Amino acid sequence: MSETDTRTTEEPNDTAPSRRPGRERGRDDGKFGRYGGQYVPEALMPAIEELADAYGRYVLNNEDGFMDEFRERLADFGGRPTPLQRADRLSERYDTEVYLKREDLLHGGAHKLNNALGQVLLAKYMGKERIIAETGAGQHGTATAMAAAHLDMPCTIYMGERDINRQRPNVFRMKLNGSEVKPVTTGRGTLKEAISETMRDWAETVEDTHYVIGSIVGPHPFPVMVRDFQAVISEEAREQAIEKTGGLPTDVVACAGGGSNTMGTFAEFVDDESVALHAVEAGGSTLEVDEAAGVAPNSASLYAGEEGVLHGARTKLLQDSDGQIMESHSVSSGLDYAGVGPELAYLVDEGRVSPVAVDDDAALEGFHRLSNTEGIIPALETAHAFGFLEEHHEELGERVVVNVSGRGDKDLDAAIEETDQRDVPNAPDMSMFTEGM
Ligand SMILES: Cc1ncc(COP(=O)(O)O)c(C=O)c1O
Repeated sequence: MSETDTRTTEEPNDTAPSRRPGRERGRDDGKFGRYGGQYVPEALMPAIEELADAYGRYVLNNEDGFMDEFRERLADFGGRPTPLQRADRLSERYDTEVYLKREDLLHGGAHKLNNALGQVLLAKYMGKERIIAETGAGQHGTATAMAAAHLDMPCTIYMGERDINRQRPNVFRMKLNGSEVKPVTTGRGTLKEAISETMRDWAETVEDTHYVIGSIVGPHPFPVMVRDFQAVISEEAREQAIEKTGGLPTDVVACAGGGSNTMGTFAEFVDDESVALHAVEAGGSTLEVDEAAGVAPNSASLYAGEEGVLHGARTKLLQDSDGQIMESHSVSSGLDYAGVGPELAYLVDEGRVSPVAVDDDAALEGFHRLSNTEGIIPALETAHAFGFLEEHHEELGERVVVNVSGRGDKDLDAAIEETDQRDVPNAPDMSMFTEGM
C-alpha cells in the first residue's frame, strides 16, 4: 500500500452491515439518471413489456419458485459457490492482501453462465420455445448454448466473422452443445454487428423466441435483469470476504466490457461506501481516437465515451462528432465493444465507480503474471484487471478482491500470437511455438 494513500484503513470495515436482500436493488423503470430506457422499434415493444412483466414476477417476486430453481441449478449444474482465494504471491508482490473471486471455476469457465442460465430458465417459465443470443468472445454464446442444452431449448447464436476466427474453440463448443452458429459479416464482424443482427431476428420472431442478451446492455429490463442474475458473484464474495478476513475489502476490481462482470461483482458492495470499486476497461493500443477513420483503437467507453443511444439504451458510447459509432479495439474480443451498460455509466458519473483503462501490453503482462505466479491462466478480458493491479497497486487499500471473470483456455492461440508480437518481459520463451521445434 502506498504511503501517500489517505484513506483510513485502521479498522477497515469490520463492522460490515448485514445485507438487504438483493432484490431491493431497484431501478424498476430502467432509468439510471440520464442513461438507460427503452429505445426500440415498435415491433419489439410487446416483447420488451412481456419480459419486464416476467422479470418483475419471476425474478423480483420469485413467482412459482423461479429464483429457488435458478439458485439450485446454479449450484448443481454451474458449480456455485465459486471460491474466494487468497493470492499469496500477488499479496506479497503488492504488499496488500489480494483475494481472487474464482468465476473462472464456474461451469464453462466464465461468469457468463450466471446470466445465461437465468435467462434461458426465465424463457422456459415464459413459455418461449426458442433461444437466440449474440456473442463476442464466444463466452456468452458458449454459456447460452450450455444452458439451452441443459434446459432442452433450441438455440441460435449470432457471432461476428472476425470473432469466429479469433475464438474457434468456443465456436466448436457451441456446436457441440447443439446450437446453430450464424456468422455475421457486416461491418467489422464483431460484437456490435452481432447484437444488431440478433435484434433483427428477434423483431421477426418475438412470439416464440427469447433473446438472451449477454451483458448489462440493451433496453430495460435487460440491464437490471442481467445485473440481478450476475449479482450472485458479489453476494458470495461479500460474505466470503467477511467470513475469511473479518471485514469488507477496501477495493473491488473487475474488468468491464458491456459491464455484466463489473456490475455482478459490484452490486452488493455499491452501498458499502468504504469499498472502492474499480472498473477496468480495455485501453487497446492507445486512448487516442482517429475521428477521420472512425476508429477508436480501444474500448474505453467509460473514459472516452459520449452520451448516445445504441442497442436500445442511452449510455456512454465511442462515437465521432456526428454521433456515428466508432470501431473499437481490444486484444480481448470480450471487451471489444463501443458501449457500456447504462448503470455502470451512471455509477461512474456519480463518482461511485472509478473507471481505469489498461492497454493491450499491460493486459498481456497481467495474463502472464497470473499464469506464472499463481497457476491460474486468465481470460484475456480478465487479464486487464491484473494489468490494473500491477499499475495501480500503490493507490489501493489493504484488502483487494479481484474477480477472475474467466479462464484463458479459449485465448491460448491469441495469447501465443499477441505475445510473439511484443516484448512481454514476464512471458516464457516463445520460439518453440512461433518458429517450430
Ligand atoms: C471472461 C470475460 N470477462 C469479461 C467479459 C466482458 O463482458 P462483461 O463486461 O459483460 O462482463 C467477457 C466477455 O465476453 C468475458 O468473456
